[in-house]
Amino acid sequence: MVELLPLSDITPLAVEDILDAAFGADRFGRTAYRLRQGMDAIPALSFAAVEDGELVGTIQCWPVAHHAPDGSATPLVMVGPVAVRPDVQRGGHGRLLMAHMLEAAETAADGALMMIGDPEYYGRFFGFAADATGAWNLPGPYEKHRLLARAVNGHGLPTGAGMIGPR
Ligand SMILES: CC(C)(COP(=O)(O)OP(=O)(O)OC[C@H]1O[C@@H](n2cnc3c(N)ncnc32)[C@H](O)[C@@H]1OP(=O)(O)O)[C@@H](O)C(=O)NCCC(=O)NCCS
Repeated sequence: MVELLPLSDITPLAVEDILDAAFGADRFGRTAYRLRQGMDAIPALSFAAVEDGELVGTIQCWPVAHHAPDGSATPLVMVGPVAVRPDVQRGGHGRLLMAHMLEAAETAADGALMMIGDPEYYGRFFGFAADATGAWNLPGPYEKHRLLARAVNGHGLPTGAGMIGPR
């Protein structure tokens, strides 16, 4: 029996442990971490999956923005990390966490969604695509086809040039 809880119900140490297990302890150098530096996760869009009392997965979302060359900023919500404990991966927890977050985002997101992730997973199941992100830039290395985005809650995607970074 899997329960979906607000991530704030889980001790921060347990969340860090699952992120280390899914991504490795060297994960802090990743571009995704620079993107949302100094920001706190959005409580209404961050969840934990708990199975029989044990934490098996987490999802966090962050307030970021697309900063255009003319100085205008469009709020975006960065999705991720999505992390599932390695020994229970491919058991549906990732899909459950994403579906729960997307449902909440339909009313709570204050910007379109963006993420760095595998299009084979996030495109196939959740409608993310790289079509709108070709002119975007990130503060670190990334593969263009993995910079994904998706409209939500009436918020469309900025398609022009812009640097993604903290709000
Ligand atoms: C990626 C991740 C969140 C997926 O969650 P999960 O619970 O393992 O996967 P699910 O059970 O929800 O989905 C399983 C399906 O997705 C596919 N899938 C899982 N990860 C995939 C990936 N990275 N690329 C393509 N397909 C993937 C599986 O093949 C399976 O498809 P099938 O049903 O046709 O067999 C999880 O495996 C994980 O934490 N991985 C390590 C960290 C990571 O890469 N996170 C994502 C970047 S933010």
